[in-house]
Amino acid sequence: MGALTVPFGVSSRARSLPELDGKTFVVASSNGARLTDTDGRSFVDYGMAMGATLLGHAHPAVVEACTAALANGPMPGFPNDIEDTAGGALARIGGDRLTRATFATTGTEAVHLACRIARGLTGRRLIAKPVGGYDGWFDPVRFGLVESPEAERMNERPVKEGTTLFRVNEIDDVDQLFDEMGPDLAAILVEPMLGNTGCLVPDRAFFEHLTARARANGTLIIADEVMVGLRRGVKLVSEDLGLTPDLATFGKAIGSGVPVAAVLGTPAAFEVVEDGTVPCFGTYHGNPLVASAVLATMKVLEDEAQYTRLFDWGAALRTAMVDAFAGEGIRATTTGFDSVFSLWFTDKAPRTYDEAKAKVRPDAMKRVSDTLRRNGVVALPTVWGRYFVSLAHGETEMDITVRAFREAARELARAEFKA
Ligand SMILES: Cc1ncc(COP(=O)(O)O)c(C=O)c1O
Repeated sequence: MGALTVPFGVSSRARSLPELDGKTFVVASSNGARLTDTDGRSFVDYGMAMGATLLGHAHPAVVEACTAALANGPMPGFPNDIEDTAGGALARIGGDRLTRATFATTGTEAVHLACRIARGLTGRRLIAKPVGGYDGWFDPVRFGLVESPEAERMNERPVKEGTTLFRVNEIDDVDQLFDEMGPDLAAILVEPMLGNTGCLVPDRAFFEHLTARARANGTLIIADEVMVGLRRGVKLVSEDLGLTPDLATFGKAIGSGVPVAAVLGTPAAFEVVEDGTVPCFGTYHGNPLVASAVLATMKVLEDEAQYTRLFDWGAALRTAMVDAFAGEGIRATTTGFDSVFSLWFTDKAPRTYDEAKAKVRPDAMKRVSDTLRRNGVVALPTVWGRYFVSLAHGETEMDITVRAFREAARELARAEFKA
């Protein structure tokens, strides 16, 4: 590639893939479960737009709805006749409790707004998030990320710009957090699954304890469902796992690749939005284009049988991956859900951040993602990578992927990798 105007040719570094065998990887088109690069090569995709395309790339129903919205004027700049309908459709995720919704453009903004609501409602400043959690790229929450210095164990709990940290699946740590900082704690901000720490899923007992301590302390719970939203059905993943949120943030899958995010909340939490105490702005928020994408996505997902197929497909792939490595005498396991999961080279999945850090194998992960790519499969290249499955992955994709994983297993065996 020649000199680039956009540094690295990509505006989000999380998206760039390293060169492989002297070739860059630049996508020319994406459709269903496939990407086609600028050399015309077709790849089975497990990045799925960092999880944003649950239905598959360029799903016809979403394309049709968005094309109509574009033609009709995507941005009237005054209230439009589709935003509230889309909000209502999205709020099906929140069930009987989280019945209010408001839109944003990115997951980062949705988290920012949810924290603002929690602060406005409680009059407190501090937000606590887990070590290894990722809640967007704004400075206050870009803290305690996986492999960051502040994620290490310290004598004192770190605090930065109104954010502090706790450790998932460590109940003593949560008790200490509330005992030491309870009066200042506006909200707990937590993903139902720590996607950036290799898909760690907190235990039910941990989430129930966290909920009880937060309730007793008047602290709100924000479930950051930007990554997992809609990936376990049209319901709150957090609630399924024992956490009872007051607010939940969404992005990615709700727009099927169109940039849209949202906050759902209880009527009590939204009082400060409704009375104007907490300002909500954003030129593009809830415009007819993005609202149409949400509405079309929610409509497709009304057919619950699709979820059964998605989960069966994902479960079959997880088993096939582990079997491929076992065939070469390499121990492997997966963490997460059947629609999004991580691969580990161990037979005992990590439960805590410290265990995850001790078990991660960057050397093997790089070999695996390179071998997959040479064999027509693209996955996120990070060592903490995730595999996102979509409704568009079918039998042909399964065959290609299983063959590629067998090749990756042989490659690790040739390199005398030991798990
Ligand atoms: C859990 C979580 N929260 C927030 C975000 C930020 O969303 P966005 O990249 O749309 O700003 C992400 C993105 O990966 C995420 O996974």
